[in-house]
Amino acid sequence: MLSDKVLKIPKSSTLQITAKAKTLKQKGIDVINFAAGEPDFKTPKEVITEINNAIENNYIYYAPSKGYLELRKAIAEKYRELYNINVDHEEIIITPGAKQAIFEAVATLLNPGDKVLIPTPCWVSYEPIVKLCDGVVEFVKTIEEEGFKIDIEDLERKIADSKLLILNYPNNPTGCSYDEKTLRKVIDLCLENDVYILSDEIYDRITFEKHITLLKFKEARDKIVLINGFSKTYSMTGFRLGYAIANRKIIDEMAKVQEHTVSCAVSFVQIAAIAALKKCEYFVRMMNYEYRKRMEYITKRLNEMNISHIKPKGTFYVFPKFNVNGFKLAERLIEKYHVATIPGEAFGPGGENHLRLSITIPIEKIEEGLELIEKCLKEMSS
Ligand SMILES: Cc1ncc(COP(=O)(O)O)c(C=O)c1O
Repeated sequence: MLSDKVLKIPKSSTLQITAKAKTLKQKGIDVINFAAGEPDFKTPKEVITEINNAIENNYIYYAPSKGYLELRKAIAEKYRELYNINVDHEEIIITPGAKQAIFEAVATLLNPGDKVLIPTPCWVSYEPIVKLCDGVVEFVKTIEEEGFKIDIEDLERKIADSKLLILNYPNNPTGCSYDEKTLRKVIDLCLENDVYILSDEIYDRITFEKHITLLKFKEARDKIVLINGFSKTYSMTGFRLGYAIANRKIIDEMAKVQEHTVSCAVSFVQIAAIAALKKCEYFVRMMNYEYRKRMEYITKRLNEMNISHIKPKGTFYVFPKFNVNGFKLAERLIEKYHVATIPGEAFGPGGENHLRLSITIPIEKIEEGLELIEKCLKEMSS
């Protein structure tokens, strides 16, 4: 008999739908893909060059489990440059993807039965990761009319006996981000109740307004594990590189989880990532410019189509609401119209009747896809 715990974990619905879209494409069917969770730009050439150089230079063996010092120093330098925040390189661990950093953080922070608060709609992997680490998930409401901001009153009601709050902003799937005042309230509540915060800021560089990192709140630094990575910012999803920033005690314990599971992140990818941090600001700006243009376009079109939605503050996702079940709509869209989307229900309570649309396709394709969605809605309502 296999593990009950693992058997109960659902497959990642986002990865499943993306795989379905890829299969249709392989059959020669032209799919309009609003489902992808990754940028559509080619990884910067500086990174590719450095990958080759690093292999030539023998970065082909195990790396230290916390990651190469040069990369950890470059990340610390980036936080100084972007946010004027001092991070010691010993407070950083490099991981194979941000997902692994989240797993290691949750495994390090939780004892069996510990309660973890997650505002929803939320990214699909938080709940399974908490469950794999024997934690208990309690969802916290968000307020859609306020751009899916966390419902502070609901947080107040639930926080007392909690161990950890998972925040993600800019948010996948809603595009929600936070002002300083709201973050202040969240921090105060967590400090009063001795609750850790995992702040997943992997979309911090894909923003349409200023991002405020949680690390800014110095007095809470010991309670914060910040998650970030290279997948989204530098279009490096396949390279699998992420990191966590936290106090040294937490990082050193996470390093033990890493040592005994994946050993380390890929050596030559770590070296190439230094070039991403030091030479690729132009790339981040170019991508941001393009996503801003696409976001303006899609939200304008959704307005014209009278489809309810909140204008995202960051990420490359928009999360419109419909009068039909998201699963049914997404299924009809892929089967009949070859438009791949992710049903909002996959992101937990609050996601019902929504679709997550990724704008990681050119504007012409967005336009074509929206027309097909309109057609499909008409057909479903008749
Ligand atoms: C909110 C969020 N956190 C973490 C990740 C994981 O990113 P990585 O590719 O670095 O594992 C994703 C990827 O989709 C994400 O959307």
